[in-house]
Amino acid sequence: MRLYSRIAGTGGYLPETVRTNYDIARMVDTTNEWILERTGISSRRIAAPHETASSMAEFASLQAIEASGGSAEDMDMIILATSSPDRVFPSTACLLQQRLNIRNCASFDVQAACSGFIFALSIADQYIRSGHAKRVLVVGSEINSRLVDWTDRTTCILFGDGAGAVVLEVSGEPGVMSTHISSEGRYKDLLYLPNPPREKSGCGDGERYIKMQGNDVFKIAVNTLGKIVDETLAANNLEKSDIDWLVPHQANIRIILATAKKLKLPMERVVCTIETQGNTSSASVPLAFNEAVRDGRIQRGQTVLMEAFGGGFAWGSALVRY
Ligand code: ACO
Repeated sequence: MRLYSRIAGTGGYLPETVRTNYDIARMVDTTNEWILERTGISSRRIAAPHETASSMAEFASLQAIEASGGSAEDMDMIILATSSPDRVFPSTACLLQQRLNIRNCASFDVQAACSGFIFALSIADQYIRSGHAKRVLVVGSEINSRLVDWTDRTTCILFGDGAGAVVLEVSGEPGVMSTHISSEGRYKDLLYLPNPPREKSGCGDGERYIKMQGNDVFKIAVNTLGKIVDETLAANNLEKSDIDWLVPHQANIRIILATAKKLKLPMERVVCTIETQGNTSSASVPLAFNEAVRDGRIQRGQTVLMEAFGGGFAWGSALVRY
């Protein structure tokens, strides 16, 4: 029998503190109107001092495991996407494993910036399809508020904190229909987070935060996401009209609008969380998916296209029959 993976349960976690555009306008030279018009963001969540990527991941994972009808010890593997790990090592996935009290299950992090969750989902899908795992916990968790310079108006307005998770389990039918991931390291200087204590050169004291050539990133993101939509549909012999839901990475409402237009999807069929969450990087796709599953928009049997683009550049998509 051919093996596939399916999403058995979803979960999400957002920190309590809300930081609005008005709050940010008191910190840097910007306005609510500028941020809302250029990005679609009006507020974002900010983690409390005691929170970490693993603590937020724990909440999201427990919800996903409960929704799957299983228990933590059923997991064969944990794959966690983050660019804001608690520690460089052990991986945040190992710290999550300890929090969930799971023994003997391979746990590792994936770092593909904002596309991390799609990369993690793709790896989990391959392990399940090949018969090497039955249940994989796939998580995206980020504390972006600690990666941005709160005096830099070009980046601090964009990001937020949160975690999303799914339990992927073996199934006789898809489930995950296909995943597509790719990277282009030659764009490394358009969007990056330095690692000052460890980079040999080029990092001064000020170089501790996310750096982005926003305008260049924007144009390449729109073009690349357009292509990956075509590639994903072609790989599955599907038409645009076969897609029930688009669950995009939430970087900028204008990028989302461009992808929806390419798919000829009305915005009612696009899951948008950006207005109140901003860009939660690798957590944005699982958070949006979880929200739409829990409020009843995404139903079992529907076809969902997930996509993401970010630092690397790294981008990817997953076509899922939920
Ligand atoms: N408030 C007011 N003015 C601002 C602000 C601000 N917060 N930020 C920039 N400006 C000014 C600029 O200084 C510039 O002024 P100038 O014309 O006098 O030089 C003007 O606004 C226009 O700046 P642009 O950068 O061209 O603005 P743009 O319309 O491109 O919007 C943005 C900027 C929102 C960052 C957009 O480029 C974007 O969303 N880029 C893509 C981000 C993305 O997709 N990232 C990938 C994922 S992130 C990851 O992987 C970690």
